[in-house]
Amino acid sequence: MALLKSNKVFLCLGNITPSLGVLSARNSSWWGGVQMGPPDPILGVTEAFKRDTNPKKMNLGVGAYRDDQGKPFVLSCVRKAEALIAAKQLDKEYLPIGGLGDFTKACAQLALGADNEVLKSGRNITVQTISGTGSLRIGANFLSRFHGGPGDVYLPKPSWGNHTPIFRDAGMQLKAYRYYDPSTCGFDFSGALEDISKIPEQSVILLHACAHNPTGVDPRPEQWKEISDIVKKRNLLVFFDMAYQGFASGDIDRDAWAVRYFIEQGHNILLSQSFAKNMGLYGERVGGFTVVCKDNEEAKRVESQLKILIRPIYSNPPMNGARIATTILNTPDLRSLWLEEVHGMANRIIKMREQLVAGLKKHGSSHNWQHVIDQIGMFCFTGLKPEQVERLTKEFSVYMTKDGRISMAGVSSGNVGYLAEAIHAVSK
Ligand code: LMR
Repeated sequence: MALLKSNKVFLCLGNITPSLGVLSARNSSWWGGVQMGPPDPILGVTEAFKRDTNPKKMNLGVGAYRDDQGKPFVLSCVRKAEALIAAKQLDKEYLPIGGLGDFTKACAQLALGADNEVLKSGRNITVQTISGTGSLRIGANFLSRFHGGPGDVYLPKPSWGNHTPIFRDAGMQLKAYRYYDPSTCGFDFSGALEDISKIPEQSVILLHACAHNPTGVDPRPEQWKEISDIVKKRNLLVFFDMAYQGFASGDIDRDAWAVRYFIEQGHNILLSQSFAKNMGLYGERVGGFTVVCKDNEEAKRVESQLKILIRPIYSNPPMNGARIATTILNTPDLRSLWLEEVHGMANRIIKMREQLVAGLKKHGSSHNWQHVIDQIGMFCFTGLKPEQVERLTKEFSVYMTKDGRISMAGVSSGNVGYLAEAIHAVSK
């Protein structure tokens, strides 16, 4: 009955008055005020797809690579690394709070380049994280606790759907800068520059290092240079999200170009990395978070605080995926095999883009679909309107996010014709 004296419980019980006094604890509720939430805009698409019984159904929602038979793809380098690890009969002790040391070293080298001055002078701190999302969240928490700036994070418009809740839940305010131009289905360079030039000094700006999600539209090197200049003039703190290194061009160094250029230009960046896509380690949750500091002494202080942030959240990260990634990165044969396989995945996606456009032309589509080919990485921002997306799902069982993004990784030689037919049917 003590329960019934709490104001909260009275609220939850709605029209049952406390004077009743006979209500059993079983009929009362702690969670009566909890509203039903909407499904996740990206992962919820997979849930709807699974319920569909149409044999032709396609899941182009979540960005997860499939082979040309439409099957989840485990890279051969991963299988080989797993065999090497299993043969070693390693223990299962806790990892340190910041993760596996060999992994964090290899992870930072992959992003920055092994001979980067930052690594040589030890002015970075890199911790292992629960993939890209975990990395961004640790970064957001770190900013929220220690960044003395205005507390705003500027995201490109649009940005990955999870960016907003990650930063918002860490207590930061979200703002946007122009990025995508719907009239060209390309980069709104002048809009981006104009907006960035007005961002209050010391704010945080989030940049997608390559294969921008959801648009597949990246700045060209000369455009990155201008962005770097203006960001420097505004004294903004740059947070790079690099979830697709290797997936944009098939070349890990080319895809890391912007990150390395910004560092060269003196930006002390924050960096999130994920190994979900480029090693296909989705469910292993392997990632890294790096803070580039002024010097080694600052890096040590930042490291101590990152550990204090991580410890009460998940104590220390899981080891299996980090061991796999480390074995691949540090074993020359496996590393070359991985580079070939990343290239193969990127190329298959590029081929599907071409086949989709050819299919649309074959079906008589009069629209200009060149952007499907020009955009890069895992996603294509089709330009389809919400009502067209709805028809694709209802009439053709083609599942995608409401913003018109399709994961090209879910398109194969076997279903690209069907997809072209379906897109043409809703867009003609
Ligand atoms: C996506 O954008 O589909 C991926 O990054 C997967 C995810 O977690 O949203």
